[in-house]
Amino acid sequence: MSDYSAGKARERGKRLDPADFIKANMRLAPVPSVPEVRLYQAHPGSGLRRLLEPEDESDGSRPDPQPPYWAYAWAGGTVLARYVLDRPSIVAGKRVLDLGAGSGLVGIAAVKAGARAAIAAEIDRNGVVALRLNAQANGVAIEIVGTDITAGPPPAVDLVLAGDVFYAQDVGQRMMPFLDRCLASGIDVLVGDPGRTNLPLSRLRLLTEYQVPDFGDAKGAAAKPSGVFRFEPEDR
Ligand SMILES: C[S@@+](CC[C@H](N)C(=O)[O-])C[C@H]1O[C@@H](n2cnc3c(N)ncnc32)[C@H](O)[C@@H]1O
Repeated sequence: MSDYSAGKARERGKRLDPADFIKANMRLAPVPSVPEVRLYQAHPGSGLRRLLEPEDESDGSRPDPQPPYWAYAWAGGTVLARYVLDRPSIVAGKRVLDLGAGSGLVGIAAVKAGARAAIAAEIDRNGVVALRLNAQANGVAIEIVGTDITAGPPPAVDLVLAGDVFYAQDVGQRMMPFLDRCLASGIDVLVGDPGRTNLPLSRLRLLTEYQVPDFGDAKGAAAKPSGVFRFEPEDR
């Protein structure tokens, strides 16, 4: 390999510092429909693709990168955040798990509404960094777990808040047994979702709906109804 190619390869393999990138290229702004929470949010000039994993220098291959879901407030998380801020007694004094936390919107809202403690579980490593920055920007303490919590037993919490975790079939299939183990341990589970295809409606009881924008909506698009549901046992 020539010096020039080696230099290029090194350049390709260099990983940007995600915290620096987020602060420089995303906008810290109140969340539409949840102005109590400010998040680093993507905008058309953010160039988030630059944060995806660098190529493997040995063969130029690239693991399938996950889109930066954490860079947006999703409708499911937005309604859960709205719900706990409007009804603080749902979380007051409780330990909550924000499952599939993304930006951390739901966990941050829960702490602002009076939760005693919040754990945010997010498997995307850039998402983990965004979560930390977002918690700091809102002046709240959140424990962040960056490993796949759904493979193990439920953590010591009173309530699971699962915002938009049924966006893909395989993800939903991982979530369901974990949520069942939470219920079996006496942990309440609330789900926020705009009615995505993989939503397990037979296991959900609708509590309320809000009109909120969703990730991917065109600018100026009308807000659509999204639900807050209680996840219930199979044999109820
Ligand atoms: C659609 S996003 C929703 C983010 C946020 N809750 C919201 O509503 O704005 C779902 C998030 O779940 C995360 N995720 C997927 N599987 C997960 C798992 N097993 N454990 C933790 N997070 C997971 C993804 O990385 C993604 O950031």
